[in-house]
Amino acid sequence: MKNIIKVDYKSVKGFLTEDEISFSKERALGTYETLINGTGRGNDFLGWLELPTQISDELVDKIESVATRWRNSVEVIVVVGIGGSYLGAKAAIDALSHSFSLHLGKNSTPSIVFAGQNLSEDYMSELMELLKERSSACVVVSKSGTTTEPAVAFRIIKQHFEEKYGKHDSSERIVAVTDQARGALKGLATQEGYTTFVIPDDVGGRYSVLTPVGLLPIALAGFDIKSMLKGASDMKKICYQKSDDNPAVEYASVRNALYSKGWKIEILVNYNPKLQYFAEWWKQLFGESEGKEGKGIYPSSVNFTTDLHSMGQYIQNGERTLFETVLSVRQPARKMIISDDPQNLDGLNFLSGKRLDECNKMAELGTRIAHVDGGVPNILVEIGEISEYSLGALFYFFEFACGVSAYMIDINPFDQPGVEDYKKNMFALLGKPGYEELAEELRKRV
Ligand code: PA5
Repeated sequence: MKNIIKVDYKSVKGFLTEDEISFSKERALGTYETLINGTGRGNDFLGWLELPTQISDELVDKIESVATRWRNSVEVIVVVGIGGSYLGAKAAIDALSHSFSLHLGKNSTPSIVFAGQNLSEDYMSELMELLKERSSACVVVSKSGTTTEPAVAFRIIKQHFEEKYGKHDSSERIVAVTDQARGALKGLATQEGYTTFVIPDDVGGRYSVLTPVGLLPIALAGFDIKSMLKGASDMKKICYQKSDDNPAVEYASVRNALYSKGWKIEILVNYNPKLQYFAEWWKQLFGESEGKEGKGIYPSSVNFTTDLHSMGQYIQNGERTLFETVLSVRQPARKMIISDDPQNLDGLNFLSGKRLDECNKMAELGTRIAHVDGGVPNILVEIGEISEYSLGALFYFFEFACGVSAYMIDINPFDQPGVEDYKKNMFALLGKPGYEELAEELRKRV
């Protein structure tokens, strides 16, 4: 269990002195106490800390019973949500799914598609074409129950369901995940009699992947949520240890030591396309938690080796404000050996007999060394394999590290005041009642 996640920061040692690292560690141990004792800013949103050990068997059974009900009766499930009500589920499902399952048509579970994470008319029209053709169900996720993007998408999908399946049957095909009392979605779900799951009051959107927000879609996609919760709860034990080599404390302290010396942009690097959306989840977690009051490391991501052929040049030689966190996977799930070719016309026989993963690992190692030589420090975060268990651990690890890290720069990690600004303008421009004055002001500016 100790090594579910390994953090290795040897390569930052050319950029930071021992004193700088230990000073930052001291501070991280201080904010770790603040987090676990619930004495910091935003401490009414700490429910996620206990989720892995507090989710009841009853709740897991209820989630699995929806999955069983829909497994043989629907072909497509649309999960409607945005931000924290979308990215965790998308990250886990992409990481765990066969990359080509749709083309192979071998799915034993319904395929999961997403909506409400954009306002694109083309996307939505094409989705409706799919829903017309296939037997479908829908999970609508919104903690506030008032977010525009998912609410609009859900209105369109609900109307389509009611026309296609009738009012009664469509209410059997819709499940809502929302607040226990507040918001338009809660009222609508109660009125229409939808099966409903509650998002706890003290868990914010981007910390909610281990509630029904993430667990329900992940179970619907056929994955083992008990194992995911086990990974998270094993990681919780590790994150709660008050020690210098607590990996969450190590990660938070090293990234902040770099930040305070001018490395302002962190790139999460993966070498496996299945982890692309995990990086999107991570970016939201850190970006929305830390980017406030003119402070915070800017989180970005690349998918290597793909992006070595696009962003690699900048990372190697561009402005020196970047550091990398490499999310490395020790063992792939499958094995592929590069064969020998007697003619060797492509000159690749030096690779004969090697695993493709060895090429990937040497690309990873070679790139880490090259980037360090180019002035880009890197931190290694290593997991054993991509599985429900390790993803559960990773979700918890980064959430915990994010709490420790945000407190190090004296930020409340659990609010997102800046997200409201675009909404006010959008509502005004769309003519929402109550926004008339702002609308007039904005129109004068454009
Ligand atoms: O982390 C957050 O709180 C946000 O990203 C929300 O998840 C996102 O804005 C969606 O909100 P809601 O679930 O209320 O629709």
